[in-house]
Amino acid sequence: MKNYRFETRQIHAGLDPEAPTGARGIAICPTAAYRFRSCDHAARLFELSEAGNIYTRLQNPTTTAYEERIAALYGAVGALALSSGMSAILVTVLSLAAAGDNIVASPFLYGGTYNQFRISLRRMGIECRIAQSERAEDLEALVDDRTRAIYAESMGNPTCAVPDLEALGRLARRCDVPLVVDNTFGAAGYLCNPFEWGANIVVDSATKWINGHGTAMGGLIVDGGNYDWRNGKYPQIDGPSEGYHGLNLCDAFGAAAFIVKCRVDGLRDLGCCPSPFDSYLMLLGLETLSLRVRHAVESTRRLAEYCRSHPKVARVGFVGFEEHPSHANAAKYYRFGSSAVFSVELKGTLESTVRFVESLRLAAHMTMIGDSVTVVTHPASTTHKQLGEADLAAAGVTPTLLRISAGLEHVDDLIDDFEQAFARIG
Ligand SMILES: Cc1ncc(COP(=O)(O)O)c(C=O)c1O
Repeated sequence: MKNYRFETRQIHAGLDPEAPTGARGIAICPTAAYRFRSCDHAARLFELSEAGNIYTRLQNPTTTAYEERIAALYGAVGALALSSGMSAILVTVLSLAAAGDNIVASPFLYGGTYNQFRISLRRMGIECRIAQSERAEDLEALVDDRTRAIYAESMGNPTCAVPDLEALGRLARRCDVPLVVDNTFGAAGYLCNPFEWGANIVVDSATKWINGHGTAMGGLIVDGGNYDWRNGKYPQIDGPSEGYHGLNLCDAFGAAAFIVKCRVDGLRDLGCCPSPFDSYLMLLGLETLSLRVRHAVESTRRLAEYCRSHPKVARVGFVGFEEHPSHANAAKYYRFGSSAVFSVELKGTLESTVRFVESLRLAAHMTMIGDSVTVVTHPASTTHKQLGEADLAAAGVTPTLLRISAGLEHVDDLIDDFEQAFARIG
C-alpha cells in the first residue's frame, strides 16, 4: 500500500480483495468473542505466540481493517483504535511512564488533555510538565532523567500554534525519549504527517476529521516503529512482561513492540476499545477524508479573510496569514499551509461574543472540530473552562476568543450567516 498515493490508500488500505463473500465493503463484525480451534490454539493466542482474535476488547476484524488503513496512511508499523482520543492519550502515556516519571509537553494543548495531564495523571504519580512555550528550548529546560516522552500537538488548541516538529524531533533524539504528537488537526497524515519530521508516536482524536460527520467517538495510537526502546528506560517494553510470563515485547515484536504493548496491556487492562460499528463509520469517513478536508481548508481561508476585514473583529488567528506566529511552521509542516480551523477574537465583551454565537443560524455552537457542519466554539466557557487565569493566558484564551472549524457547507452561506450574526451584536 505504501506506493499508492494518500487518496488511493484512504479507500483501498485494509480492504481484502480476496474476501470470500466478494463484498466490496468491509463487513461490520458484531461479536464480542471468537471460537478457538482447540485449547492449544487458545493458549498460543493468550501467550502472544500466535496472532489472532481472542475477544473484541483486544481486536475485531472490522477494527483491524480500520487500523491497517490508518497505519498505511501514515506509513507506520501499526495502529491501535480506541474508544476516544482521550483514551488514546491515556493509554499512550501509561504505556510510557510509571509513577515517579514525567512527560514534558507544549502548553498549547486541547483542554481535556491539559486536565488529564495536570489532574488525573498527577494523581497516579505521573508528572506532566507544561513548558512555557512550544519551542524546543523551553521543553528541553524541563527534561530530566525521569522524562519518558516529549508531547505536543501538531496544531495546538485553540490558537492553532504549530510547533517546529523537526526541532522537537531533534530534542527527543537528544534526550533519548520518544516524541509523541497529537495529530488530530493533521487529518490522518493528509495535511501533516509528524513521522516525516521525527515523531515516534502519533495520537489522534478520530472523532474529528477521520470520522468527519460527527457520528462516532474514536481515538488512535499510531506507532512509527522508529524508536529504539532498548535504552533501559522502558522495562515495560524491553524487559520481562509481567502479564505475559516474562515475554520481552521488543524480542517478540521488534519495531512494533510499543503498539503491541498498548494493545495487550493498555486495551486489556483499561478496556477502552471501539465498537465494530464505530470502526466501520471511521472506515467510511476515511474514504472521503482528503476531499472533505481540502474543501474545508479552502472555506477556512475564505472565512478567515472575511473575518479579518470585518470591523467587529479584533484579531484572526489563521496560520495561513503571514502575521500568525506559526505561519512559517504551518507552511512547512501542513499541506496547503493550514488546517480547517482558525480563531477569531471579537472586539467588545464577553456578552457581545455570547450574543454573536447565539445569533448564528447555520454554524453550530458545539465543542467539536472536523464535522461536516461548521462549528463555532467559545473556549473560555467550554473546552478551557477548567483552567485558571494564568493557564488561560498561557494557552492564549481570552473571553472574546472563538474557535471556528469550517464544515462542508457552501462558504458563501457561511459568510452570510456570520454577517447576520455580526449585525445583531450592535
Ligand atoms: C487535539 C485534540 N486531541 C484530543 C482530543 C480528545 O479526543 P476525543 O474527544 O475523541 O476524546 C480532542 C478533542 O477535541 C482534540 O481536539
